[in-house]
Amino acid sequence: MRKKLIAGNWKMNGSLAANQALVEALVAGMPVQCCDVAVCAPAPYLSQLQTLLRNSPIALGAQDVSAHDSGAFTGEVSVAMLKEFGVRYAIVGHSERRQYHGESDVVVAAKAQRALAAGITPIVCVGETLAEREAGKTEEVVKRQLAAVIHTNGHCISEIVVAYEPVWAIGTGKTASPEQAQHVHAVLRAQLKAASTHSDRILILYGGSMNAANAAQLLAQADIDGGLIGGASLKAPDFLTIIAAAG
Ligand code: 13P
Repeated sequence: MRKKLIAGNWKMNGSLAANQALVEALVAGMPVQCCDVAVCAPAPYLSQLQTLLRNSPIALGAQDVSAHDSGAFTGEVSVAMLKEFGVRYAIVGHSERRQYHGESDVVVAAKAQRALAAGITPIVCVGETLAEREAGKTEEVVKRQLAAVIHTNGHCISEIVVAYEPVWAIGTGKTASPEQAQHVHAVLRAQLKAASTHSDRILILYGGSMNAANAAQLLAQADIDGGLIGGASLKAPDFLTIIAAAG
């Protein structure tokens, strides 16, 4: 049985004051026994969050990581830097990075590789656009995105987390139906199984307008092992409801 993971992706939101209020409310409201929980914060707040989350059951995540180790890469953050702040997870290949920063499948795979080498769990995002779904290309797209990560990382992929995030469902209020999501998750599960003998342990999260009202139904699907939550992770009561729904 895979232990579920609920990860918040705060995206470019927050402030010192808002982060503190949010984390204090989360820590106070965490069930005694629950799924794994993480918050992926903007890089400037990692130090603050390392302190706020100390001795809490909530793990710290980053929203991106460089594909390089160090050097002349202005604006980038390396795995070694993330490690210094106790970061356990790093989102890689989020559709907003692919779309606005031109990240290719190859770059995303290299980022996952850097994270794995440093002992940080990459949360590898895959997902189709609305045009791709309407053209019947959903499976082709997500399989291509995941194949690049498998190709680069070989047997190490048993240590990754995958997040299926249909681009058309992100921040739109349009959630994939539990059946739609489960279908794609099963496709990804089969691909992972073909690539790794330890694929059973790989979590596949769903992301895209998951919220307090729809989380339970999505999380009840056989191959949905948790959620990557954007907007609803910024509201403590909503995020706590999703955590409770994951059991
Ligand atoms: P929303 O939950 O705001 O749709 O965002 C999903 C997401 O992109 C998480 O990475």
